[in-house]
Amino acid sequence: MATVHNKASKEEVASVVLMPGDPLRARYIAEKYLQDAALINDVRGMLAYTGSYRGKRITVMASGMGCGSMGIYSHELFNKYDVEIIIRTGSCGAYTMDLALMDLFIPDSCWSQSAYASIYSGCTDDVVYPDPELWADLWECAQQKKLAHKKGCLHTSDCFYYKKKEDKHLICEEKKCLAVDMESFALLHNAAIAQKKAATILTVSDHSLLKEKLSAAQRQSGFDEMIEVTLDVLWK
Ligand code: ADE
Repeated sequence: MATVHNKASKEEVASVVLMPGDPLRARYIAEKYLQDAALINDVRGMLAYTGSYRGKRITVMASGMGCGSMGIYSHELFNKYDVEIIIRTGSCGAYTMDLALMDLFIPDSCWSQSAYASIYSGCTDDVVYPDPELWADLWECAQQKKLAHKKGCLHTSDCFYYKKKEDKHLICEEKKCLAVDMESFALLHNAAIAQKKAATILTVSDHSLLKEKLSAAQRQSGFDEMIEVTLDVLWK
């Protein structure tokens, strides 16, 4: 049964989903890592593929940017496609010198000022959490692969650009957030409401204190490591 945003049938979607933000990264992951990958959605360019990874059926689908977009696609996957697990595999900006470019950040909590949760479900909590087992699997897998990885609180922001730059630093100091993305809050909230499992793993792609960002080549190799961690966890 398709939706207005996703033309895949229920049978075409696997029960576990790797979710990057960028549709072209979804295509890259499918082409590089999945056997017999089939394109199952291209509505609004939000590419999704299902194929197999070491014999297990996995769907890779882009979320787009922001809680609104992540909210739509993860809601449909959990509630209309019977997906059980979604791992967001994306990028984040670092707020602190405790994180360096290319580090993996595996947030154990996520704080947001977003109205997403209160509009979606009436829940006024401003902190959401990943599934603890999924989180521990990501953490252990990164450890086994000897990758630089950190945990802590993630800020999910509704804005990429700020007129008042000092706001970012207040968030870091007062809310103890180490890094920022724009999607995880909606994913983790939708999973909690649907009683499904979700977690987030991010590569630090830019640094607000150092004013640095990854080159295209660094992005590629850093992202490959994170994708391999995610696939190994979904494969379990
Ligand atoms: N994703 C990657 N870098 C980001 C940043 N600086 N702000 C929000 N989301 C991001």
